Formats: sequence, structure tokens, C-alpha cells
Amino acid sequence: MSNKPVPFMARLRKPTPLLFAAGAALVVGAAVRRRAPGSPPRTSAVPRPSASGPPRPRALTLLVTAHERVADGVVLLRLEGTDLPRWEPGAHLDLVLPSGLVRQYSLCGDPEDTSSYTVAARLVEDGRGGSREVHEQVQEGTELEVRGPRNRFPLVDAPAHAFVAGGIGITPVLPMLRALPEGAEWRLLYGGRTRASMPFLEEVGKLDPEGGRVTVVPEDEDGRPDLDSFLADLPEDTAVYCCGPEGLMAAVEERLPEGAALHLERFAPRTTADGDGEFEVELHRSGRTLTVPGDSSVLAAVRAELPNTPYSCEQGWCGTCQQTVLEGEIDHRDDLLTDSERGDSMLICVSRCRGTRLVLDM
Ligand code: FES
Repeated sequence: MSNKPVPFMARLRKPTPLLFAAGAALVVGAAVRRRAPGSPPRTSAVPRPSASGPPRPRALTLLVTAHERVADGVVLLRLEGTDLPRWEPGAHLDLVLPSGLVRQYSLCGDPEDTSSYTVAARLVEDGRGGSREVHEQVQEGTELEVRGPRNRFPLVDAPAHAFVAGGIGITPVLPMLRALPEGAEWRLLYGGRTRASMPFLEEVGKLDPEGGRVTVVPEDEDGRPDLDSFLADLPEDTAVYCCGPEGLMAAVEERLPEGAALHLERFAPRTTADGDGEFEVELHRSGRTLTVPGDSSVLAAVRAELPNTPYSCEQGWCGTCQQTVLEGEIDHRDDLLTDSERGDSMLICVSRCRGTRLVLDM
């Protein structure tokens, strides 16, 4: 690691097409690398589930021992248990809410603490109900089933690290910053709508006691951050990490300098403009053939026949529903699977068929 300090990043005011209004549960990790012309491709450092079948994270029942407001619209939950599995910075936890909804939240506490997990959740007013349940139904004394932790957004070995966090997107970044080795070269751009809505500002400030590494940009005070400047002078092979709304990640991806590798943690699956047609799915081992209507998913059709089929997020970001495909052309609608996994597997909660028939190994 280089000891060279990162140049001071002043608060920057050049308009950038970002949105900090969104914010929710997670997530999907994805890695993108911008290569110089002619340079060899580099594989992602992000671990993936095996194409031969989805991971089955261990389920635990934990007690909520803290439910505290830590910023406008953000609550922190501490979940206690004993001998909890350790986790790496960037990991997330599935929370099974009292209603049965499953939501993913990044772990933001101490990875060495085996007696509790800490997550933070932003209330999404027009969301699908999970964040409201976390805010309004879950309280101290609630028992919650959790699965994981799992990590699709790990800290990677790189000569320098640049983090871009939007709002609640700071949660996976915080333990990553704490885990950087002494002398590591790093910088953080942390944006939000208002200072009051940005969790963990104090904690972030403590990680940069001399200043110069952290740029905080509340939009109502400083306008939108200047990503061009933030990403302009990165050392070769810098690992760029981004967690936040889709607009923020798209803007970072667009500006990624040559030679840098981008690691993303998404709040929502990438959307597609493709229309949704009806098609057939044959379940090879079960010997059944199903019809998937245009307004429903492969997962829904499969679960009608095989109710124990594993799934979690239903949005293409957790990998739980990954299944092997034996025949047919897949219309991949996720950002999670690697190119090699896409050859013979799919996430059946979001991905579809380009033709009229798929054969799944189930
Ligand atoms: Fe989470 Fe499909 S990717 S259920």
C-alpha cells in the first residue's frame, strides 16, 4: 500500500445527475472494470454462488436489543445472539420480517463482534412495505429470523480505494473503511439530500481526523457532488466502490477512469425495456411443464408446483433462486451473475426467456 496521501477533496459543486432521494434495503454486488484498449480482461473479485445451485445461508433467530433513529428516516437495529458467524466488511444480512417479507441490509457494526449484528434501514415512503415494517413494527424485544451474512461487495486488494456512497449507501462502506490497513490510500465521497438525513457522519469524520480523505456533500448545502473531479486523478488500478441509488451508480460507471475497477452494491435490480411475453418452462427432473405468463415470474410459476423452491429478495440481487438451465435462450435481467454463470444458469425471480421454452434442471 502506498503511504501517499490522497489530495484534499474540497466540497465540490459541479452539477452531477445524481439522485439521493432513493434509499432502501439492498442490494446486489457487481464488479465492472474499465480496461485500457488491448489490455487483458480481469476477473471480478466478487465471490459468486455456484452455478450448480444456490447458496443456502444459515438461519438464526436473533433478538432486537436496539431500535434507534440515527438520522432522518433511518433506524439502526442491533440484533443479539450468541456465537454468531463472522462476516467481512461489505456483507449483508437477510432479515425475515414478522410479515414474512425478506429484506437485505448491509452490516455496519464490528465484524469481530460475535454477539450482535448491526444494520441500518431507511424508510422508503413509496416502497413495498419492508422498510416501513422495520421502522414501525419491529422494536426492541422483537425476535427476527436472519440469514447470512453473505458478501457480494467485498473489499479487494488494490493499491488505492475510492468510495462513493449515497445516503444509506454508507452502511456497507463504513466497515470497509474501518478495515483498511494503516497507510492505505483511500478517499470517500459521501452525498445525501440533507446533513440530517445522512447516517454515521460522526463515525465517518473520526476515520479522517486530519481531513483530506472524506468529502461530505449534503445536496441542500453544497449542491450535487462533482464526480468528475473525485474520479479524475485516481492512481492506476484503484478499486472504486459505489453504493447508493441507481442514478449515482450509473454516473460513477459512466465516469470510471481507464484502469479502475468498479464494485457496485445496488438498491434495486437493473430494469429492462424488453417486453414480457408468455413462455414455457420444463422442469427436467420433476417432469412437469409450466406456462409463465407475461405478467408473472418463472419463480412464481415454479413455486406453484414446487413450493419449497428457495428464494429471498425476488428482485435479482441475492442469488438465492439461481437455477441451472439445460436448454433455451435466457433473457438475463439481473446484475449479479458472472458471464460464465449466465451461460447455464439464471435467477428465476427476474430473468425470463428470449424464445418460447426453457428447460430447468429441477
Ligand atoms: Fe433473490 Fe432471486 S435473486 S430471489
